[in-house]
Amino acid sequence: MTDQLPGLLTVGSLASAAYITAGLLFILSLAGLSKHETSRRGVVFGIIGMTLALLSTVALSLFGAPGEGNQGLGLTLLVVTVVVGGAIGLWRARVVEMTGMPELIALLHSFVGLAAVLVGWNGHLEHPPLDGALENIHRGEVFIGIFIGGVTFTGSIVAFLKLSARMKSRPLTLPGKNLINLVLLVAFVVLTVLYVQNTALWQLVTVTVLAFVLGWHLVASIGGGDMPVVVSMLNSYSGWAAAAAGFLLSNDLLIITGALVGSSGAYLSYIMCKAMNRSFLSVIAGGFGIEASASKDEEQGEHREITAEETAELLASADSVVITPGYGMAVAQAQYPVAELAHRLTEQGVKVRFGIHPVAGRLPGHMNVLLAEAKVPYDIVLEMDEINDELSETTVVLVIGANDTVNPAAAEDPGSPIAGMPVLRVWESERVIVFKRSMASGYAGVQNPLFFRENSQMLFGDAKERVEDILRTL
Ligand code: TAP
Repeated sequence: MTDQLPGLLTVGSLASAAYITAGLLFILSLAGLSKHETSRRGVVFGIIGMTLALLSTVALSLFGAPGEGNQGLGLTLLVVTVVVGGAIGLWRARVVEMTGMPELIALLHSFVGLAAVLVGWNGHLEHPPLDGALENIHRGEVFIGIFIGGVTFTGSIVAFLKLSARMKSRPLTLPGKNLINLVLLVAFVVLTVLYVQNTALWQLVTVTVLAFVLGWHLVASIGGGDMPVVVSMLNSYSGWAAAAAGFLLSNDLLIITGALVGSSGAYLSYIMCKAMNRSFLSVIAGGFGIEASASKDEEQGEHREITAEETAELLASADSVVITPGYGMAVAQAQYPVAELAHRLTEQGVKVRFGIHPVAGRLPGHMNVLLAEAKVPYDIVLEMDEINDELSETTVVLVIGANDTVNPAAAEDPGSPIAGMPVLRVWESERVIVFKRSMASGYAGVQNPLFFRENSQMLFGDAKERVEDILRTL
């Protein structure tokens, strides 16, 4: 097989055209995913773009450079890795619960980071020397690629361990943690200059270890409530790591896709920082520049309980009801009975709306996806900023499996680990019913004073079972 096709076309030029088309499809995919109505179309664009990219890469690696290397070996390696990787990916994607998605994503980011480290090492070991400035640029790419990849690799592993509760979500507070980060960064810059001037293997080993330590420390020193920002930041880093690998491999598609993931991840982090009232720059600097305050998870008074039957009576006589779901609704898979409850109450003339906190659940848009799955109409699902001012005129708020996102301590206690994070001000309504199984704290590990307020009552048990009990009574 030759790479020369009829006319002036070569496999290389066809692949370049396919890469640009795939890049455009990825942009259209991101645009589509930004709205409920167009998200399905966005996914289809993404699938077509990825198929095109994969086919072109396979064609390029097999027929792109005839005579170079061993094509039989190339094909075997390609088939084996795609089959093994694809089978593991398919199995994980099929068995993962929606609530386990962020930890899976964190683990996948770690692979991107590790791949960038390996590509960087390969760029050092296998690369034929280039002339003058080009050689210096190549060395810079190797070093930066390994550094970003290393930080992404260990950072994502810590994020995975924290999200899957294999590691405590409390922040690691080493003395002078900001200084440690700064020293590691300065060491990286000095090593880069040394490496560009005169390469040596010890510099490569040192920068790899240094990046691993920095990634681990950056994410370990961030507390539970701030993890969403960290995950989206790691998403962004994994994009930049892929782009760095793209430069080393001279692969346009990796550069385009990496830049798309890197910049969209950075923008998502920016939006999340705003939602969580955190400084974007201090997130990039790592550790948020905030010293963690002591977490208080002891109980703060007497709580009162309510039964499902009493709740049903209360709801039937209410003028307006706001439902604020959280991670517990996802765990209990309570979205279907909750949607049915909203529907029934609306039929009985009660004004029902949902109030969604931007980081409720465990991944961006988690609650919106669940409610859409249960066919809750979009127009009654409101964002936190849209509903907050109306909560004081609401008769009953049902807090279904939410905790940190409705914690008054964030607004009222400057010493709280989640101080400053905007929350749904559910306590301003006439009555609040909190659905959860115990008095345990939420993801951030902070006790919630809402449970002990005069107008709050606890409805203990699995959220799905309790909502079904209410439906039966109604
Ligand atoms: P959380 O603060 O995590 O609280 C969820 C509550 O649900 C828990 O207190 C738990 O109490 C209850 N629960 C669990 N299973 C339940 C069940 N089967 N039935 C009834 N209740 C159940 O939830 P949230 O308010 O949604 O806040 C999200 C938190 O996760 C924030 O701290 C956020 O920063 C963090 N986070 C968010 C993301 C994104 S991007 N959304 C990513 C990572 C982390 P019991 O155990 O007593 O039942």
